[in-house]
Amino acid sequence: MKITVVGAGNVGATCADVIAHKELANEVILLDIKENYAEGKALDIWQTAPINLYDTRVKGSTNDYSKTANSDVVVITSGLPRKPGMSRDDLISTNAGIVKTVTENILKHSPKAIIIIVSNPLDVMTYCAYLTSKIDSKRVFGMAGILDTARYRAFLADELNCSPKDIQAVLMGGHGDTMVPLPRYTTVAGIPVTELISKEKLDAIIDRTKKGGGEIVNLLGTSAWYAPGAAAAQMVEAIVRDQKRIFPVCAWLTGEYGLKDIYLGVPVVLGKAGIEKIIELKLNDEEKKLLADSAKAVKEVMDVLDKMNTSVPH
Ligand code: LAC
Repeated sequence: MKITVVGAGNVGATCADVIAHKELANEVILLDIKENYAEGKALDIWQTAPINLYDTRVKGSTNDYSKTANSDVVVITSGLPRKPGMSRDDLISTNAGIVKTVTENILKHSPKAIIIIVSNPLDVMTYCAYLTSKIDSKRVFGMAGILDTARYRAFLADELNCSPKDIQAVLMGGHGDTMVPLPRYTTVAGIPVTELISKEKLDAIIDRTKKGGGEIVNLLGTSAWYAPGAAAAQMVEAIVRDQKRIFPVCAWLTGEYGLKDIYLGVPVVLGKAGIEKIIELKLNDEEKKLLADSAKAVKEVMDVLDKMNTSVPH
């Protein structure tokens, strides 16, 4: 098994580190455009192997895609992160060009790879990679839902003073302020969360979750990396170990939930083929409305991409 992580910034390096710790592959290639940067990060990560006792080889490369040849899974984290005051959508023009170039280079050397997008604005960058790649959408999808649900679960664990391990949740929609946490499908060790927490407190947690990325940007002056990197690595794990895990993933919809020709967060089964199934939950009218609003917001940014010259005619 060989995994490539493109972008050796905070998210990419964290993702490579977690992949190595979990021994998800024999080899992890960390690639970056900045001279010697990926080599340095990879060397530092590899030097934790004798301490943390793993044998996954982590190697860095400055933009030499031949080193990534025959990767099974590729995680694309390249692009600029947000600064305070910016929305994820503000990154579209810079990051679309980057994601397009990276996707082309990756597929030249790893035509069979499964591609996971992490770059922002997430839903639209996943769409950009899909248009560029011209491969089956089962093999091109984005990481957002695991991160957003992790934030939701972490806030709930704090509020309920319980282990985050016991909190199960699903969240849908775009990776932005319109995301749709689903309290009806949130349980704590099987107990519906609505039995354990007041509506006011739950609403406040949902609101904080929606703005969870921005909260960190405001604290740090740049976007988060530990949770995004670990979330992408968890998707890699589900694929390389063929776990058939059910996760919210940014997936190409072809009529599911009454939506088509859009990348949006929905629960899927992840296994060695990539997205093996999209799960259609029965949503009530209020949830359907929230999902439709989120889809509308994502579609508007997809339209911006379609109008940019970096987009591939389709
Ligand atoms: C966040 C960025 C990575 O949500 O989108 O933290």
